[in-house]
Amino acid sequence: MQLPAFFYTVFESLPRQGPGCTAATRKVFSLLPPLPQDAKILDIGCGSGTQTRDLAALTTGHITAVDNHQPFLDTIDAWVKKTGKADRIKTVCASMDALPFGKGRFDLIWSEGAIFIIGFEQGLKTWKPFLKKGGYMVVSDADWFEPNPPAELAKWWESEGYVPVSEDEMKERVKRAGLRLIATYRLPEAGWWDNYLVPLLARIAEFRKTHGKNPADAALLDSLEHEADMYRRFKRYYGYTFFVMQNV
Ligand SMILES: C[S@@+](CC[C@H](N)C(=O)[O-])C[C@H]1O[C@@H](n2cnc3c(N)ncnc32)[C@H](O)[C@@H]1O
Repeated sequence: MQLPAFFYTVFESLPRQGPGCTAATRKVFSLLPPLPQDAKILDIGCGSGTQTRDLAALTTGHITAVDNHQPFLDTIDAWVKKTGKADRIKTVCASMDALPFGKGRFDLIWSEGAIFIIGFEQGLKTWKPFLKKGGYMVVSDADWFEPNPPAELAKWWESEGYVPVSEDEMKERVKRAGLRLIATYRLPEAGWWDNYLVPLLARIAEFRKTHGKNPADAALLDSLEHEADMYRRFKRYYGYTFFVMQNV
């Protein structure tokens, strides 16, 4: 799907491009058994790389960060250069449904807030062959936290082209993808606000001054503000869950 250039302008100006936080990345990483010292790690849909930097701090291995938007990768490359980590971290501009890597190569595949782009089950099935036997996969995706969500909320998700399901149904999808579930972890509310929705709302207010008169740009800003409003009003019904899995 081709997104408007202004969408990228907004998201390039944010500390991260989806819900998440370093505390959650660290917590979920702690649920994994120890990795080999030279572990090969693939970070899919890395955006400007908050979790890539966290993974670099948490591991001693080699990280390949993949996104299909080069300017996000440029941000990571600049950080890699500044911190002298070029021997450990590289970026690859590629699509998550056509990864240019050999099969059975990675000890860990990590993906925060990006698997929805090809769909949870499809993503697991597409990425699993890139794992070594016994390797791990960690992804976060949206699901229902409570049954019977309000119609207004369900309709909004549908309009976003996404149909959330319960955590139990997500677990069935993990099984169908042939992965063993090790643990799940729900992203705390702070992971939505601190680095994602609060900066997003601040940027929306700024961009209204410069782009508010352009109808297409104003509509995009409205829809992003609506996304924040949905979370504010209905957060008890949905959220992001991390799934920690193994390729057995
Ligand atoms: C919601 S953002 C999450 C970014 C980051 N993981 C985070 O949590 O801040 C989704 C990311 O997936 C990337 N993306 C979208 N379609 C993609 C595709 N087909 N292949 C690879 N990356 C894609 C976007 O550019 C964006 O950086």
